[in-house]
Amino acid sequence: MPELRLENVTYRYRNAERAAVEDVSCSFRGGELCAVVGPSGSGKTTLLSLMAGLDKPSSGRILMDGEDLASMDLDRYRREKVAMIFQAFHLFPLLTVLENVCFPMDLSGVPEKDAEGRARELLSAVGIEEEKHGRFPANLSGGEQQRVAIARALASGARVLLADEPTGNLDVANGRRVMDILGRLAHEDGYCVVVVTHNLAIADAADRVWRMSDGALSEEVTGG
Ligand SMILES: Nc1ncnc2c1ncn2[C@@H]1O[C@H](COP(=O)(O)OP(=O)(O)OP(=O)(O)O)[C@@H](O)[C@H]1O
Ligand SMILES: [Mg+2]
Repeated sequence: MPELRLENVTYRYRNAERAAVEDVSCSFRGGELCAVVGPSGSGKTTLLSLMAGLDKPSSGRILMDGEDLASMDLDRYRREKVAMIFQAFHLFPLLTVLENVCFPMDLSGVPEKDAEGRARELLSAVGIEEEKHGRFPANLSGGEQQRVAIARALASGARVLLADEPTGNLDVANGRRVMDILGRLAHEDGYCVVVVTHNLAIADAADRVWRMSDGALSEEVTGG
């Protein structure tokens, strides 16, 4: 199962007075649904972008299955190892639902027919009916768009899913549905799932909860 480990990771934005992420050490493993909570500006998104390989730590190391990101091809890491899910879905507006999910497979050279078959499977696994596969994202509800975004994340083959406020634009019922899917992916399929959220009800559903405060991360002791 995948493991993403951070060792004394610090990140400072250019010209910033203080570090946005400060001396963070932790590890996220496959099979677990992890939540990261904390106030606005505490460094949650910055932490996710470091784990996603979008930024490089100012100091410290990030290891994917024991291998230091600093010595990896980061384009490849971003394409194959991690996938991000965002509050605003970020689907490609001019591609259909099916084309959105095929996109990561096209990038990695999967033959079109195979990609399409796999995309349809993934869409059905997240509850998007066949009749909606040819639509553009704008013609779906928010909850449906987020489920398509999850299907697209899975299509990349990544085993680590990083979600930044994935339910932030959804009502309670749709938020729960998205969290149910993310939980199933962790528990049944062994994905490593890290969800940043303000929503404490959602954090409650997680196996482990981490709290970010002024750039520092600490694990909460949970009742379960
Ligand atoms: N591009 C940037 N350049 C400089 N500073 C930044 C940049 N992005 C974020 N910051 C600063 O880094 C700190 C952490 O920001 P970050 O976006 O990680 O917080 P967050 O916990 O995700 O907040 P929110 O809950 O509001 O999304 C904040 O002080 C923020 O102002
Ligand atoms: Mg944020």
